[in-house]
Amino acid sequence: MNNAPIIDKLLQLNKQNIISFHMPGHKNGKIYDKILYKNFKDILYRLDTTEISGTDNLHNAKEIIKESQQRASRIFKSEETFFLVNGSTSGIYSMIMAATSPGDKILIDRNCHQSVINACILGDLVPIYVYPDMDEKRGIAMGVSPDDIEAQLEKHNDIKAVVLTYPTYYGIACNLKKIEKTVHKYDKMLLIDEAHGAHLGLNKDLPLPALSCGADAVVQSTHKTLPSFTQSSMLHIQGNRLDRDRLRFMLRVHQSSSPSYLLLSSLDFTVMVYETKGRYLMENLLEDIRRFRQKIKETDRIDIMEDGITEDRGFKSADITRMWIGIENITGYELERRLRGNFNIQMELSDKYGVLGVASIANTGSDFDKLLNALYKISEDVEANKTEQLQNSAFRGNLAFKNVEQVFTPREALYKTKKRILFKESQGCISGEYIIPYPPGIPLVVPGEKINDEIIQQVMYIIDDGGEILGLCDEDCEWIKTIT
Ligand SMILES: Cc1ncc(COP(=O)(O)O)c(C=O)c1O
Repeated sequence: MNNAPIIDKLLQLNKQNIISFHMPGHKNGKIYDKILYKNFKDILYRLDTTEISGTDNLHNAKEIIKESQQRASRIFKSEETFFLVNGSTSGIYSMIMAATSPGDKILIDRNCHQSVINACILGDLVPIYVYPDMDEKRGIAMGVSPDDIEAQLEKHNDIKAVVLTYPTYYGIACNLKKIEKTVHKYDKMLLIDEAHGAHLGLNKDLPLPALSCGADAVVQSTHKTLPSFTQSSMLHIQGNRLDRDRLRFMLRVHQSSSPSYLLLSSLDFTVMVYETKGRYLMENLLEDIRRFRQKIKETDRIDIMEDGITEDRGFKSADITRMWIGIENITGYELERRLRGNFNIQMELSDKYGVLGVASIANTGSDFDKLLNALYKISEDVEANKTEQLQNSAFRGNLAFKNVEQVFTPREALYKTKKRILFKESQGCISGEYIIPYPPGIPLVVPGEKINDEIIQQVMYIIDDGGEILGLCDEDCEWIKTIT
């Protein structure tokens, strides 16, 4: 058989010229039309090399990698920057495990990415949670409040570090400046998962970058919102609270011993673009987005999450390059299907009420025109046919984790004996696995937590609506492993 299924499918999809409002940030390579640097995309295979004379070693950088990391450190305004080739996941593991010892407690926002919980498994840590405020209408987590963080630090004076998602997947930024003051007042480390915010420094109308709010360590998925390749990220450090030798050790533990030069080259490319053209491209993008948002606001059938939500406990500002969009009488899952099926537009994710679009400096004005046009057409169609009604007003979807009780730490749960039972009958049982609506990849239940009736109901809603749940031990999500 003379074929290669992955390559064949990717080439076929590539021919379709899908309009991308999803990751990665180079938008199917569109950035290379804007930045014609040495035909970067055409010479890639020639850049795939290893540690030979003339190159460098990521784990002991002295030459070209060191130079590029130093340039990144200067423009992202850190004291030291490390390139990551195993995603932000590896940076999150490394920064958390450099800051803690087995048995330590860490304070985490409950709407964190699963990599933060996995770091608790690897590092044998006890997670203490702080819960985000909710936008109940849209079923979206806002942010955590400085007061709630202070209350937890007061209650558990042995917490070692505070790990927060800033901004969230939906672009919500909590009041990190205020949180930083509290965390450092209690003499704890502030570690930030800024996977969704690598681009924030490019314009003052975006939320403040976590480093400028005073975070001790910040991990950024440059592949999500800037044009580096999937799996390439950065870890930035400032100050002396985090032991940097220990961090270097952890980075070696969690990353490949054969770091890809393709990924490293794409990080180098991103640093160059950020410094030379980043602000200009971001200003153009924001103009397109403002125009797009204004047009949406003029219709009353399409809802777009407002940049101007009023500042409150868990909300300080929003990243307007994240566009949460809902249309009355149609689920987000269906909206995503129609955008892709009828208009060749791929969004980042959908949930019960809406879709999320991720825009980057590689998007063009015409992408926004096409999205606007598609949304007009879909909303007219829905209005004319009134085929679908949103039911289940009790749906709280991805946020039903608030009343879940932790019985074992995630690591304890991992090593307990388990049995398979019907998920529908698991009320009151302790979960032996994650329950994660995907995307966004935020766990509803973490191993070691008790499954309650609300969780069962919410998961059934998600499955009935065509959403995907990771973690349940069979494909149909009928069975779950619980701790005996
Ligand atoms: C909030 C958050 N943190 C961390 C990660 C992990 O990032 P990466 O895919 O670069 O490993 C993700 C991935 O989606 C995420 O959404």
